[in-house]
Amino acid sequence: MKKINLHFAILCAFIFINAGCKKQSVNAQTQSNETLQSVAPFRVGAAISPTLLQNNSSYRNILINELNSITTENALKWQAVHPQQNTFDFNGGDVIVNFAMQNNKRVHGHNLLWYAYNPDWVKNFVGDSAAWENLLKTHIQTVVSHYKGKITSWDVVNEAFHEDGTLRVEDTNTSDSFDDGCIWARHLGRDYMARAFQYAHEADPGALLFYNEYGQEWSVAKINAIVSMVNDFKSRHIPIDGLGIQMHIDINTSNDGIINAIQQLANTGLQIHISELDIRVNTDNNSSLTYTDALKTEQSDKYYFVVQQYKSIVPKTQQYGITTWNVGDGDSWIRFFFNKNDWPLLFDDNYAKKATYDAFLKALKN
Ligand code: XIL
Repeated sequence: MKKINLHFAILCAFIFINAGCKKQSVNAQTQSNETLQSVAPFRVGAAISPTLLQNNSSYRNILINELNSITTENALKWQAVHPQQNTFDFNGGDVIVNFAMQNNKRVHGHNLLWYAYNPDWVKNFVGDSAAWENLLKTHIQTVVSHYKGKITSWDVVNEAFHEDGTLRVEDTNTSDSFDDGCIWARHLGRDYMARAFQYAHEADPGALLFYNEYGQEWSVAKINAIVSMVNDFKSRHIPIDGLGIQMHIDINTSNDGIINAIQQLANTGLQIHISELDIRVNTDNNSSLTYTDALKTEQSDKYYFVVQQYKSIVPKTQQYGITTWNVGDGDSWIRFFFNKNDWPLLFDDNYAKKATYDAFLKALKN
Protein backbone atom coordinates (compact mmCIF):
# COMPACT_ATOMS: atom_id res chain seq x y z
CA MET A 1 0.00 0.00 0.00
CA LYS A 2 2.80 2.32 0.99
CA LYS A 3 4.57 1.45 -2.23
CA ILE A 4 1.46 2.22 -4.30
CA ASN A 5 1.05 5.50 -2.48
CA LEU A 6 4.63 6.40 -3.19
CA HIS A 7 4.20 5.56 -6.85
CA PHE A 8 1.00 7.55 -6.92
CA ALA A 9 2.72 10.51 -5.28
CA ILE A 10 5.60 10.36 -7.75
CA LEU A 11 3.16 10.14 -10.63
CA CYS A 12 1.19 13.11 -9.30
CA ALA A 13 4.36 15.09 -8.81
CA PHE A 14 5.40 14.26 -12.36
CA ILE A 15 2.04 15.35 -13.78
CA PHE A 16 2.08 18.48 -11.63
CA ILE A 17 5.59 19.52 -12.63
CA ASN A 18 4.89 18.73 -16.24
CA ALA A 19 1.67 20.73 -16.21
CA GLY A 20 3.49 23.55 -14.47
CA CYS A 21 6.25 23.50 -17.07
CA LYS A 22 3.69 23.40 -19.86
CA LYS A 23 1.92 26.35 -18.35
CA GLN A 24 5.13 28.28 -17.99
CA SER A 25 6.16 27.62 -21.54
CA VAL A 26 2.71 28.71 -22.79
CA ASN A 27 3.13 31.95 -20.88
CA ALA A 28 6.62 32.50 -22.19
CA GLN A 29 5.32 31.71 -25.64
CA THR A 30 2.48 34.24 -25.33
CA GLN A 31 4.85 36.91 -24.14
CA SER A 32 7.38 36.33 -26.86
CA ASN A 33 4.57 36.53 -29.44
CA GLU A 34 3.62 39.97 -28.22
CA THR A 35 4.62 42.81 -30.46
CA LEU A 36 4.02 46.52 -30.24
CA GLN A 37 1.26 46.35 -32.85
CA SER A 38 -0.41 43.35 -31.25
CA VAL A 39 -0.85 45.03 -27.88
CA ALA A 40 -1.34 48.66 -28.93
CA PRO A 41 -4.83 50.17 -28.71
CA PHE A 42 -3.84 52.60 -31.50
CA ARG A 43 -1.40 52.60 -34.42
CA VAL A 44 2.31 52.41 -33.67
CA GLY A 45 4.82 53.33 -36.30
CA ALA A 46 8.20 54.57 -37.39
CA ALA A 47 9.54 57.00 -39.93
CA ILE A 48 11.57 55.04 -42.44
CA SER A 49 14.12 55.19 -45.22
CA PRO A 50 13.43 53.33 -48.49
CA THR A 51 17.11 52.36 -48.76
CA LEU A 52 17.20 50.64 -45.38
CA LEU A 53 13.86 49.03 -46.14
CA GLN A 54 15.27 47.49 -49.31
CA ASN A 55 18.71 46.55 -48.05
CA ASN A 56 18.31 45.50 -44.46
CA SER A 57 16.19 42.48 -43.57
CA SER A 58 16.32 43.13 -39.80
CA TYR A 59 14.93 46.61 -40.38
CA ARG A 60 12.24 45.25 -42.67
CA ASN A 61 11.28 42.48 -40.24
CA ILE A 62 10.78 44.93 -37.41
CA LEU A 63 8.43 46.92 -39.61
CA ILE A 64 6.54 43.79 -40.64
CA ASN A 65 6.27 42.31 -37.16
CA GLU A 66 6.15 45.20 -34.74
CA LEU A 67 4.53 48.20 -36.41
CA ASN A 68 1.38 49.03 -38.34
CA SER A 69 2.06 52.59 -39.43
CA ILE A 70 4.87 54.09 -41.50
CA THR A 71 5.89 57.69 -42.03
CA THR A 72 8.08 58.72 -44.96
CA GLU A 73 11.10 60.24 -43.21
CA ASN A 74 12.69 62.11 -46.13
CA ALA A 75 11.44 60.46 -49.33
CA LEU A 76 8.54 62.85 -49.88
CA LYS A 77 10.15 66.07 -48.72
CA TRP A 78 10.26 68.66 -51.48
CA GLN A 79 13.98 68.25 -52.17
CA ALA A 80 13.63 64.48 -52.66
CA VAL A 81 10.34 64.26 -54.51
CA HIS A 82 10.52 67.42 -56.64
CA PRO A 83 14.23 68.01 -57.29
CA GLN A 84 13.77 70.05 -60.50
CA GLN A 85 10.90 72.21 -61.62
CA ASN A 86 9.63 69.66 -64.12
CA THR A 87 10.87 66.51 -62.41
CA PHE A 88 9.05 64.56 -59.76
CA ASP A 89 10.91 61.59 -58.32
CA PHE A 90 8.52 59.13 -56.70
CA ASN A 91 11.00 56.25 -56.48
CA GLY A 92 11.64 56.40 -52.74
CA GLY A 93 8.01 57.10 -51.88
CA ASP A 94 6.83 54.26 -54.11
CA VAL A 95 9.17 51.77 -52.43
CA ILE A 96 7.66 52.67 -49.07
CA VAL A 97 4.05 52.78 -50.23
CA ASN A 98 4.29 49.48 -52.14
CA PHE A 99 5.81 47.78 -49.11
CA ALA A 100 3.07 49.23 -46.93
CA MET A 101 0.31 48.04 -49.21
CA GLN A 102 1.77 44.53 -49.43
CA ASN A 103 2.12 44.35 -45.67
CA ASN A 104 -1.05 46.12 -44.64
CA LYS A 105 0.55 49.16 -43.02
CA ARG A 106 -0.91 52.64 -42.85
CA VAL A 107 1.21 55.34 -44.52
CA HIS A 108 1.51 58.88 -43.19
CA GLY A 109 3.04 61.26 -45.75
CA HIS A 110 5.62 63.73 -44.47
CA ASN A 111 5.54 66.57 -45.61
CA LEU A 112 4.08 68.79 -48.28
CA LEU A 113 5.46 72.14 -47.12
CA TRP A 114 8.34 73.01 -44.83
CA TYR A 115 10.64 75.98 -44.48
CA ALA A 116 13.62 73.60 -44.72
CA TYR A 117 14.68 70.89 -47.17
CA ASN A 118 13.68 72.87 -50.25
CA PRO A 119 15.81 72.49 -53.39
CA ASP A 120 17.77 75.44 -54.72
CA TRP A 121 15.53 75.83 -57.75
CA VAL A 122 12.63 76.59 -55.38
CA LYS A 123 14.67 78.93 -53.19
CA ASN A 124 15.84 80.79 -56.29
CA PHE A 125 12.51 80.74 -58.07
CA VAL A 126 11.55 84.10 -59.56
CA GLY A 127 7.94 84.91 -60.24
CA ASP A 128 4.97 87.03 -59.21
CA SER A 129 2.51 85.92 -56.57
CA ALA A 130 0.43 83.98 -59.12
CA ALA A 131 3.53 82.05 -60.22
CA TRP A 132 4.41 81.21 -56.60
CA GLU A 133 0.83 80.16 -55.95
CA ASN A 134 0.97 77.90 -58.97
CA LEU A 135 4.23 76.41 -57.72
CA LEU A 136 2.69 75.59 -54.35
CA LYS A 137 -0.53 74.21 -55.81
CA THR A 138 1.18 72.12 -58.50
CA HIS A 139 3.56 70.57 -55.99
CA ILE A 140 0.89 69.69 -53.46
CA GLN A 141 -1.62 68.38 -55.96
CA THR A 142 0.88 66.34 -58.00
CA VAL A 143 2.28 64.59 -54.93
CA VAL A 144 -1.06 64.02 -53.19
CA SER A 145 -2.72 62.80 -56.43
CA HIS A 146 0.10 60.34 -57.07
CA TYR A 147 -0.67 58.67 -53.74
CA LYS A 148 -4.44 59.20 -53.73
CA GLY A 149 -6.10 56.37 -51.84
CA LYS A 150 -2.72 54.93 -50.82
CA ILE A 151 -1.38 57.49 -48.37
CA THR A 152 -3.92 57.80 -45.57
CA SER A 153 -2.78 61.10 -44.08
CA TRP A 154 -0.39 63.97 -44.70
CA ASP A 155 1.62 66.49 -42.75
CA VAL A 156 0.50 69.33 -44.99
CA VAL A 157 2.56 72.00 -43.24
CA ASN A 158 5.56 71.35 -41.04
CA GLU A 159 6.96 73.73 -38.41
CA ALA A 160 5.39 77.02 -39.49
CA PHE A 161 5.86 78.83 -36.19
CA HIS A 162 8.92 80.24 -34.47
CA GLU A 163 9.60 79.21 -30.92
CA ASP A 164 7.93 82.39 -29.61
CA GLY A 165 4.72 81.48 -31.45
CA THR A 166 5.06 84.04 -34.25
CA LEU A 167 4.73 82.85 -37.83
CA ARG A 168 8.01 82.08 -39.57
CA VAL A 169 8.40 84.66 -42.28
CA GLU A 170 11.81 86.30 -42.13
CA ASP A 171 14.83 84.94 -40.29
CA THR A 172 14.41 86.35 -36.80
CA ASN A 173 16.71 83.89 -35.08
CA THR A 174 20.19 84.33 -36.46
CA SER A 175 21.68 81.85 -33.99
CA ASP A 176 19.80 79.08 -35.78
CA SER A 177 21.56 78.57 -39.10
CA PHE A 178 18.94 76.04 -40.16
CA ASP A 179 16.21 78.66 -39.99
CA ASP A 180 16.26 81.29 -42.71
CA GLY A 181 12.59 82.17 -42.28
CA CYS A 182 9.98 80.59 -44.52
CA ILE A 183 9.88 81.15 -48.27
CA TRP A 184 6.21 80.19 -48.40
CA ALA A 185 5.08 82.87 -46.00
CA ARG A 186 7.35 85.42 -47.69
CA HIS A 187 6.11 84.80 -51.20
CA LEU A 188 2.55 83.72 -50.59
CA GLY A 189 1.47 85.80 -47.62
CA ARG A 190 0.54 84.77 -44.11
CA ASP A 191 -2.49 82.73 -45.17
CA TYR A 192 -0.50 80.24 -47.28
CA MET A 193 -1.23 77.42 -44.85
CA ALA A 194 -4.99 77.56 -45.28
CA ARG A 195 -4.61 77.35 -49.05
CA ALA A 196 -2.15 74.46 -48.75
CA PHE A 197 -4.74 72.48 -46.78
CA GLN A 198 -7.42 73.30 -49.37
CA TYR A 199 -5.21 72.23 -52.28
CA ALA A 200 -4.37 68.94 -50.57
CA HIS A 201 -8.04 68.30 -49.82
CA GLU A 202 -9.00 68.95 -53.45
CA ALA A 203 -6.41 66.42 -54.63
CA ASP A 204 -7.52 63.65 -52.24
CA PRO A 205 -10.70 64.44 -50.29
CA GLY A 206 -10.29 61.14 -48.41
CA ALA A 207 -6.87 61.94 -46.95
CA LEU A 208 -6.56 63.16 -43.37
CA LEU A 209 -4.67 66.44 -43.17
CA PHE A 210 -2.31 67.32 -40.31
CA TYR A 211 -0.33 70.29 -39.08
CA ASN A 212 2.97 69.04 -37.58
CA GLU A 213 5.24 70.90 -35.11
CA TYR A 214 8.02 70.46 -32.55
CA GLY A 215 8.63 72.01 -29.15
CA GLN A 216 5.08 72.10 -27.77
CA GLU A 217 6.45 70.47 -24.56
CA TRP A 218 8.34 73.64 -23.66
CA SER A 219 6.76 76.44 -25.72
CA VAL A 220 3.30 77.41 -24.53
CA ALA A 221 3.47 80.19 -27.13
CA LYS A 222 3.64 77.56 -29.86
CA ILE A 223 0.69 75.67 -28.44
CA ASN A 224 -1.32 78.89 -28.39
CA ALA A 225 -0.36 79.70 -31.97
CA ILE A 226 -1.41 76.22 -33.13
CA VAL A 227 -4.69 76.29 -31.22
CA SER A 228 -5.63 79.69 -32.63
CA MET A 229 -4.73 78.51 -36.12
CA VAL A 230 -7.03 75.50 -35.66
CA ASN A 231 -9.87 77.72 -34.39
CA ASP A 232 -9.39 80.07 -37.31
CA PHE A 233 -9.41 77.14 -39.78
CA LYS A 234 -12.54 75.70 -38.22
CA SER A 235 -14.35 79.04 -38.42
CA ARG A 236 -13.49 79.27 -42.14
CA HIS A 237 -14.15 75.58 -42.90
CA ILE A 238 -10.54 74.95 -43.90
CA PRO A 239 -10.09 71.16 -43.87
CA ILE A 240 -7.78 70.14 -41.03
CA ASP A 241 -8.07 66.76 -39.33
CA GLY A 242 -5.12 66.37 -37.04
CA LEU A 243 -2.13 67.71 -35.18
CA GLY A 244 1.34 66.19 -35.02
CA ILE A 245 3.31 66.59 -31.82
CA GLN A 246 6.82 65.64 -32.96
CA MET A 247 8.19 65.08 -29.46
CA HIS A 248 11.92 65.10 -30.01
CA ILE A 249 12.63 65.19 -26.29
CA ASP A 250 15.29 64.14 -23.79
CA ILE A 251 15.34 62.49 -20.40
CA ASN A 252 15.13 65.90 -18.68
CA THR A 253 12.10 67.20 -20.59
CA SER A 254 9.48 68.39 -18.13
CA ASN A 255 6.69 65.88 -17.52
CA ASP A 256 4.28 68.75 -16.89
CA GLY A 257 5.24 70.21 -20.25
CA ILE A 258 4.49 66.90 -21.96
CA ILE A 259 1.11 66.61 -20.22
CA ASN A 260 0.22 70.19 -21.06
CA ALA A 261 1.09 69.82 -24.75
CA ILE A 262 -0.95 66.63 -25.15
CA GLN A 263 -3.89 68.04 -23.19
CA GLN A 264 -4.10 71.43 -24.92
CA LEU A 265 -3.82 69.97 -28.38
CA ALA A 266 -6.27 67.16 -27.65
CA ASN A 267 -8.75 69.84 -26.52
CA THR A 268 -9.04 70.94 -30.16
CA GLY A 269 -10.93 67.69 -30.81
CA LEU A 270 -8.63 66.84 -33.74
CA GLN A 271 -6.69 63.60 -34.26
CA ILE A 272 -3.48 63.64 -32.22
CA HIS A 273 -0.36 61.99 -33.60
CA ILE A 274 2.85 61.79 -31.58
CA SER A 275 4.60 61.96 -34.89
CA GLU A 276 8.39 61.87 -34.44
CA LEU A 277 9.14 60.50 -30.99
CA ASP A 278 12.73 60.06 -29.85
CA ILE A 279 14.29 60.55 -26.42
CA ARG A 280 17.90 61.69 -26.11
CA VAL A 281 20.08 60.78 -23.14
CA ASN A 282 23.16 62.86 -23.96
CA THR A 283 21.77 66.11 -22.61
CA ASP A 284 25.17 67.76 -22.09
CA ASN A 285 26.54 66.80 -25.49
CA ASN A 286 29.32 64.83 -23.87
CA SER A 287 31.41 63.09 -26.52
CA SER A 288 32.72 60.44 -24.11
CA LEU A 289 29.34 59.58 -22.60
CA THR A 290 28.54 55.89 -22.26
CA TYR A 291 25.07 54.46 -22.24
CA THR A 292 24.89 53.43 -18.59
CA ASP A 293 22.17 51.39 -16.91
CA ALA A 294 21.10 54.50 -15.02
CA LEU A 295 20.58 56.40 -18.29
CA LYS A 296 18.75 53.45 -19.82
CA THR A 297 16.38 53.39 -16.85
CA GLU A 298 15.69 57.13 -16.99
CA GLN A 299 15.09 56.93 -20.72
CA SER A 300 12.80 53.90 -20.40
CA ASP A 301 10.81 55.68 -17.69
CA LYS A 302 10.37 58.64 -20.03
CA TYR A 303 9.16 56.42 -22.86
CA TYR A 304 6.74 54.75 -20.45
CA PHE A 305 5.50 58.14 -19.30
CA VAL A 306 4.88 59.51 -22.80
CA VAL A 307 2.94 56.43 -23.92
CA GLN A 308 0.90 56.33 -20.72
CA GLN A 309 0.01 60.01 -20.87
CA TYR A 310 -0.97 59.76 -24.52
CA LYS A 311 -3.21 56.81 -23.70
CA SER A 312 -4.87 58.43 -20.74
CA ILE A 313 -5.22 62.03 -21.95
CA VAL A 314 -6.18 61.67 -25.61
CA PRO A 315 -9.75 60.43 -26.08
CA LYS A 316 -9.79 57.08 -27.92
CA THR A 317 -11.44 58.48 -31.04
CA GLN A 318 -8.62 61.02 -31.37
CA GLN A 319 -5.72 58.57 -30.90
CA TYR A 320 -4.06 58.64 -34.32
CA GLY A 321 -1.02 56.83 -32.96
CA ILE A 322 2.59 57.12 -31.88
CA THR A 323 5.44 57.11 -34.38
CA THR A 324 9.13 56.99 -33.50
CA TRP A 325 11.60 58.81 -35.74
CA ASN A 326 13.23 55.77 -37.37
CA VAL A 327 13.90 52.27 -36.03
CA GLY A 328 17.42 51.58 -34.72
CA ASP A 329 19.69 53.98 -32.81
CA GLY A 330 22.11 53.92 -35.73
CA ASP A 331 19.40 55.16 -38.13
CA SER A 332 18.38 58.13 -36.01
CA TRP A 333 18.93 61.68 -37.27
CA ILE A 334 20.06 62.70 -33.76
CA ARG A 335 23.65 61.50 -34.07
CA PHE A 336 24.49 63.31 -37.24
CA PHE A 337 22.18 66.31 -36.91
CA PHE A 338 23.43 67.21 -33.44
CA ASN A 339 26.82 65.65 -34.13
CA LYS A 340 26.95 63.63 -30.91
CA ASN A 341 26.69 60.12 -29.59
CA ASP A 342 23.23 59.18 -28.43
CA TRP A 343 20.86 56.22 -28.27
CA PRO A 344 17.39 57.68 -28.72
CA LEU A 345 15.17 54.85 -30.00
CA LEU A 346 13.58 51.46 -29.17
CA PHE A 347 16.07 49.23 -31.03
CA ASP A 348 19.86 49.31 -30.84
CA ASP A 349 22.38 49.60 -33.67
CA ASN A 350 21.95 45.88 -34.40
CA TYR A 351 18.16 46.01 -34.22
CA ALA A 352 17.91 44.22 -30.87
CA LYS A 353 15.08 45.34 -28.61
CA LYS A 354 16.22 47.74 -25.90
CA ALA A 355 14.90 48.42 -22.39
CA THR A 356 13.03 51.33 -23.99
CA TYR A 357 11.17 48.82 -26.16
CA ASP A 358 10.09 46.88 -23.06
CA ALA A 359 8.91 50.09 -21.39
CA PHE A 360 6.99 51.15 -24.50
CA LEU A 361 5.33 47.73 -24.75
CA LYS A 362 4.48 47.68 -21.05
CA ALA A 363 2.93 51.15 -21.25
CA LEU A 364 0.84 50.11 -24.26
CA LYS A 365 -0.48 47.13 -22.29
CA ASN A 366 -1.05 48.67 -18.87
C1 XIL B 1 15.08 65.00 -40.40
C2 XIL B 1 15.53 63.67 -40.96
O1 XIL B 1 15.38 62.69 -39.97
C3 XIL B 1 16.95 63.76 -41.42
O2 XIL B 1 17.33 62.55 -42.06
C4 XIL B 1 17.10 64.93 -42.38
O3 XIL B 1 18.44 65.08 -42.76
C5 XIL B 1 16.61 66.22 -41.75
O4 XIL B 1 15.27 66.03 -41.34
N1 XIL B 1 11.56 67.53 -37.73
C6 XIL B 1 10.98 67.04 -38.87
C7 XIL B 1 11.66 66.01 -39.66
O5 XIL B 1 9.81 67.37 -39.16
O6 XIL B 1 11.38 66.10 -41.03
C8 XIL B 1 13.16 66.03 -39.44
O7 XIL B 1 13.71 64.91 -40.12
C9 XIL B 1 13.48 66.02 -37.97
C10 XIL B 1 12.88 67.23 -37.30
